[in-house]
Order: sequence, then structure tokens, then C-alpha cells
Amino acid sequence: MAAALDVEVGIVGAGPAGLMLGWMLARAGISFVIVERQSRAHVEGRIRAGVLEQGAVDLLNACEVGARMQREGLVHDGIELACDAERLRIDFRALTGKSVLIYGQTEITRDLNLAHDSIGSRIHYEAAQVTLAGLTDARAALSCTLAGEALHFRCRFIAGCDGFHGVSRPAIAGLREHERVYPSGWLGVLCDTPPVAPELIYASHERGFALCSMRSPTRSRYYVQVGVDERVDDWSDQRFWDELRARLPRDVAARLVTGPSIEKSIAPLRSFVAEPMQYGRLLLAGDAAHIVPPTGAKGLNLAFADVEALAAALCAALRDDDEAALARYSETCLKRVWKAERFSWWFTAITHRLHDDSFARRLQRAEFDYLASSRAAQTALAENYVGLPRHV
Ligand code: FAD
Ligand code: PHB
Repeated sequence: MAAALDVEVGIVGAGPAGLMLGWMLARAGISFVIVERQSRAHVEGRIRAGVLEQGAVDLLNACEVGARMQREGLVHDGIELACDAERLRIDFRALTGKSVLIYGQTEITRDLNLAHDSIGSRIHYEAAQVTLAGLTDARAALSCTLAGEALHFRCRFIAGCDGFHGVSRPAIAGLREHERVYPSGWLGVLCDTPPVAPELIYASHERGFALCSMRSPTRSRYYVQVGVDERVDDWSDQRFWDELRARLPRDVAARLVTGPSIEKSIAPLRSFVAEPMQYGRLLLAGDAAHIVPPTGAKGLNLAFADVEALAAALCAALRDDDEAALARYSETCLKRVWKAERFSWWFTAITHRLHDDSFARRLQRAEFDYLASSRAAQTALAENYVGLPRHV
């Protein structure tokens, strides 16, 4: 068996959470390794998040990995809601003094990988058979194989940043899981056409939900709610555009510029929280611990909030021998996580077709009318969307 290498923190997963945590630890002079199942190209090409809260933007800037985001990100001061033919703008800036930034997850992972390249970080892509052991011992063990060769790391702590389908969460004994699975998914299309509107449009319609988003002034991202059993192959570009148009207010649909899709995929809708987010030397962060339906644009933002708390707690433990913050890590994160779960669930419920009954549709109509008539209701939506205060 190959000799084990000592690192202070072993990180499982090189998604946004793992890459960001590694970068923050590197800046603090803490030794780490990242093991990632997929290739670097796969991680950097995964089209997912597009909306960053100010807190996430601030974190990237504070860690000096925000320069390209500052140049290329699009500041959005509000969103539009549509309910059938009617529209309502939620003015974040007027209601909360804050805005959000449009900057893709692909760009964030690329920026973080380039930053890691510049300091020669130890990141092992395409790692197979990743296993965790000794989580309650003095040192935990992280192992994997790379091109058939075994690698072993002895770690003071392990950060499980390996997403919903990773190996870290199942390694925790006595976990409580809270879950809501929705009977729908989002079919997303990326397209090199100008966005249909300057701001995002969240559209609730009899036929189901639709979202008009973007990545840049020349690249659009659109979604339509579909049944869980739908297959991407059954959705030609033409069928997608027809369905999207049918769910948008008529004037918006008329302005839609279509083109060949450059990516098309289906993401399931799920709410999920695992408690606690820690066990012995293992700490979970991001999607490994909690999932929200994408409606509230919260997943990546929550992952970064976890990582911010975790990096600070690990620094205190490893540099000052103070494990108090680490002991409170799960409790600290979960309070805010549950608020984001609540918001994402609510925003999904008021905009998606989840039940086939007229009562549900009438309630959605009432939610829309209430929002349209109440500044207080709009403020509640806005302050959740732009991001609730951070825990650190
Ligand atoms: P992941 O991105 O899932 O990364 C986990 C990594 O671990 C992966 O690279 C995976 O390959 C790796 N891994 C898994 N298993 C193993 C293993 N056994 N060994 C080693 N590595 C492993 N969030 C927002 O904040 N704003 C948005 O606008 C937004 N929009 C979204 C739109 C869609 C369609 C989707 C699907 C998600 C969206 N999200 C959004 C959510 C966001 O993409 C996720 O919350 C985010 O990717 C979480 O990052 P993570 O690093 O925790 O997990
Ligand atoms: C996206 O652009 O991919 C996006 C935007 C807003 C959301 C979810 C996804 O709520």
C-alpha cells in the first residue's frame, strides 16, 4: 500500500464549494488536497447557477478571485414576475438597496481553477473509488485511485463538498434527512441569442412555469417546467421554443429571438436538508448537505455561505487550536439554510404548476395579486432573493 500523505484538510469534490474552500484555505496557509470524480472540463462545462447574491460577490472579491466577474458580470436591480398575461416588476434596489449579479457557475469554477493553477494547488481530477474512513479517530483517512494507482491522505479534517450524490453524506451515522421531491423538473436551454428582456422573467402559466435568464448580452438561458419523466431527447429545439413562447406574455413571446441550442438538460426539483452537517472530523458544505429547487437561485449562494463559515472555523481550529466555531458549524449554517429552503419552496409553489386543480391555480393568482398590491410582500420577496444576512 502506498504511504499516506499528511494534509490538514482533505476536500471531496471540486465544484464551487470545494474549489472555493480550497482557495480560502490556501490563502490562510493551510495544507489541503481536493479529489474530484469528474474531469476538469466536465466541472467547468456544467451549466448551472447564474445568479449571485451580493454576499457571494463580496466573498469572491475579498478572496481576490473576482476581477473577471467584476468586468463581465451583469448587475440586475430587479426581476419580473408574470402570471399569464400580467407582469409585475420587483425592484430590488428600491426595496432593499441591493442587487444581484449575473455570472455563470462555469465562469466561477474556471476562475477558481485558474487561481489554483497559479499556486500549484493539489487537485486530483478523475479520481475513482473515493473513500472516507476514521472519521472519529485522531486523523481521518481519504483515499482514491488515480489512473489505477492508489492515493491515501491522512487529514485533520475532511470537507464533504461532493454534492447531492457524493460519498461524504452517506458516511455520517445518525443523520436526519428532510426532503420534498416535486413531480417536476426544469428543462434548460442555452443559446447564443440576445436575452428576450434586460431582466430575468419568472413566468407562471396554466401550462407550467418558465424562466427567461441569461449569461451575457449575447447568451440566453431559458427554462420550462416539465414532468419528472420527460427525456431531453424528446425535446427538439423547435418544441422547446414553442412551449416557452406559449407560457410567456404575448409581447414577450413576440420578442423572443431563437437559435440552435448549445446545451439542453433537465434538472430535477428537490428540497432537501441533512442534519447535522458534521460528524467527527467530517464537515459537509453545499449541495452535499442541502438542496433547494432552483427557483430562488439559492444553491450556489448557500454553498458559498457554508464555505465562508467553514473556512473561518477550520482556520480557528488549525491555527489557534480553537474548535468552538467548528463545533457550532452545523447549527450556524442550518439556521440560514432553512430560511433559504422556505423561500425556494414558496417561490416554487407560487410559480409552478404542481397540482392539477383550480384551487391551487386560484391561490397562485391571489399570491400574484397580493404581491402586486403590497410593497411589504414585494420587500419580503426581494430581501430573500438578494440574500438574507450572512452568519459570519
Ligand atoms: P456541486 O456543484 O454538485 O459539486 C460537487 C462536486 O463533487 C462535483 O464536481 C462532483 O463531480 C463531485 N463529486 C461527486 N461525488 C464525488 C465523489 N464520490 N468523489 C469525488 N468527487 C465527487 N444556485 C444559485 O445560487 N443560483 C442559481 O442561479 C442557480 N441556478 C441553478 C440552475 C440549475 C438548473 C441547477 C441544476 C442548479 C442551480 N443552482 C443555482 C444550484 C447550484 O448549481 C448548486 O447549488 C451548486 O453547484 C452547489 O455547489 P457544490 O460545490 O456544493 O456542489
Ligand atoms: C440561471 O440563469 O440558470 C438561473 C437563473 C435564476 C434562477 C435559476 C437559474 O432562479
